[in-house]
Amino acid sequence: MKIIVTGGAGFLGSRLIELLLRRLDAGEPPIPFDRIVSLDLAECPVADPRVSSVVGDVASPELLDREVDEDVLGIYHLAAVLSGGSEENFDLALRVNVDGTRALLEAARRLGTAPRLVFTSSLAVFGGDPPEVVPEEWAEQPDSTYGATKAVGELLVNEYSRRGHVDGRICRLPTISVRPGRPNSAASSFASGIIREPLNGERAVCPVPHATRMWLSSPRAAVANLAHALEVDGERIGPWRGMNVPGICVTVGEMLDALERIGGDQARSLVDDAPDRSVMDIVCSWPGEFEVQRMLELGFVRDRSIDRMIRQYVEDFAPGAGRPAGQDEAGAETA
Ligand SMILES: NC(=O)c1ccc[n+]([C@@H]2O[C@H](COP(=O)([O-])OP(=O)(O)OC[C@H]3O[C@@H](n4cnc5c(N)ncnc54)[C@H](O)[C@@H]3O)[C@@H](O)[C@H]2O)c1
Repeated sequence: MKIIVTGGAGFLGSRLIELLLRRLDAGEPPIPFDRIVSLDLAECPVADPRVSSVVGDVASPELLDREVDEDVLGIYHLAAVLSGGSEENFDLALRVNVDGTRALLEAARRLGTAPRLVFTSSLAVFGGDPPEVVPEEWAEQPDSTYGATKAVGELLVNEYSRRGHVDGRICRLPTISVRPGRPNSAASSFASGIIREPLNGERAVCPVPHATRMWLSSPRAAVANLAHALEVDGERIGPWRGMNVPGICVTVGEMLDALERIGGDQARSLVDDAPDRSVMDIVCSWPGEFEVQRMLELGFVRDRSIDRMIRQYVEDFAPGAGRPAGQDEAGAETA
């Protein structure tokens, strides 16, 4: 039986596939799959005979008809146009994030087996004037195209679940930091750049005020939580399938202080303030903290501190570091 990962060539998708394989290697994965299919516009970088890569568009019903067959045990839906890209290209965001999600749900519905389906949403579904700490049942009120398309996706996943067509799990991920590689089209890309670039000896720009509160998760905790989301009993999630995945609340100023503690004055001096209204309009509308006690009780995890998150980046990704082997949510906090 197979698990489909849309967006399997992406940052989180490829790391999720690696983690699922490690669980398979360790024996008795909680969900009895034996192979993984990545469905992405790009080839999945994970080289393993149990992983096959289908290169194509998630919004293509023909491709989904072919790949979403009776062998499907579970689906992770990560393929998406991110926040900056969605703001720039409204039509593409609607086609991929809304039409693609609907097409995938339709393909899953036709199976008649109500497969488990994890949908990666975002705290960008929130906006307006949220409270300091957002309660679990706080309603979506997006202030961006990305947030609006994710909110539509959430409602679709929830409705297909209510009608018994899929067993959906909506993971509103925090902003991921520290992410390796180059800046991407996410408006929150700086949340990794202001740490990663200085640690690599490069200059970085901070586009938001230092008092901006960020809701952050390390890559390790985010991927562990996605793996867990497919495993958790749907009954325990309850009728509304939206879940605010645990993160930690850190101001941008606290991130820069942590950079100085770990990388020294030299690293800190490489960050220049250059306020950018287009980034602020998106990122400053996102809440900085959420109630997560129930999520921790459901077995989701969160990071302990920004210092540990930066040290993890250095261990896992900084030049010369090896990729994590056998490390799941190491360093993360549970209920
Ligand atoms: N990284 C974060 O901070 C963060 C935060 C919240 C939510 N998310 C969500 O998590 C998911 C994964 O994010 P990521 O950081 O790995 O992003 P990513 O950009 O690295 O990966 C997304 C993948 O989707 C693929 N894709 C885009 N359009 C496609 C299409 N039409 N058909 C098939 N594949 C397509 C891309 O090729 C890419 O490999 C996304 O749904 C994103 O919205 C990410």
